[in-house]
Amino acid sequence: MRKIIVAIDGFSSCGKSTMAKSLAHESGYIYVDSGAMYRAVSLFSIREGLINDDHINELTLENQISSLQIEFRTNSNGQQNTYLNGENVEKEIRSLEVANGASRISTLGFVRHELVRQQQLMGKDKGIVMDGRDIGTVVFPDAELKIFLTASPEVRAYRRMDEMIAKGENVSFEEVLANVRERDERDQNRTESPLRKADDAIVIDNSNLTLQEQQELLRTLFVEKTLL
Ligand code: DC
Repeated sequence: MRKIIVAIDGFSSCGKSTMAKSLAHESGYIYVDSGAMYRAVSLFSIREGLINDDHINELTLENQISSLQIEFRTNSNGQQNTYLNGENVEKEIRSLEVANGASRISTLGFVRHELVRQQQLMGKDKGIVMDGRDIGTVVFPDAELKIFLTASPEVRAYRRMDEMIAKGENVSFEEVLANVRERDERDQNRTESPLRKADDAIVIDNSNLTLQEQQELLRTLFVEKTLL
């Protein structure tokens, strides 16, 4: 079986990482959460005071970005953690503040350029599953298997609301739906590498699929591509 690159793109809260992680686990491939890299740059910017409500210190960030060390390490219970300059920042990068910062810094050309360069290096030997927004279009335009994952905004809002309620947060469906729509709008309409389906990507709408059906579908597509 040949080693391939699997690119999984799509809207937020579609379950891209669940899908990508499980395929990587089954196939023994490396899994890369490209969003975690944007989040790590956001955390760095917040800690260094380079980002506030209405301003990003682009000059300083641009000077420092190539010296940031962002890596993924697997811990003893098999979970993958994100490291920034040798520190495990997995928990911190999942906060709302860091997510909002990531959404802003991911619009900067020099940030995307540097992270895309690092992502391409990670995939140079293939055998990788990467999820994000521009993986099939910009990072690996020649990826052998490209998936564009989608689900209706309402379904995604319900899923997010359930996760938030499970964490003890008190939110209404309307609030979460508005946030989902706002993020879709920003992802699709930024000038730098907006979210769009690659021409040769396979669309999977998982609004009405169980996790098991989704994984089965992906497994079939993966096997087909590796046997070619
Ligand atoms: O998938 P996520 O929520 O962890 O992504 C964090 C932010 O980074 C989000 O605003 C979208 C952005 N992002 C991006 O622009 N390109 C990627 N390849 C991955 C994420």
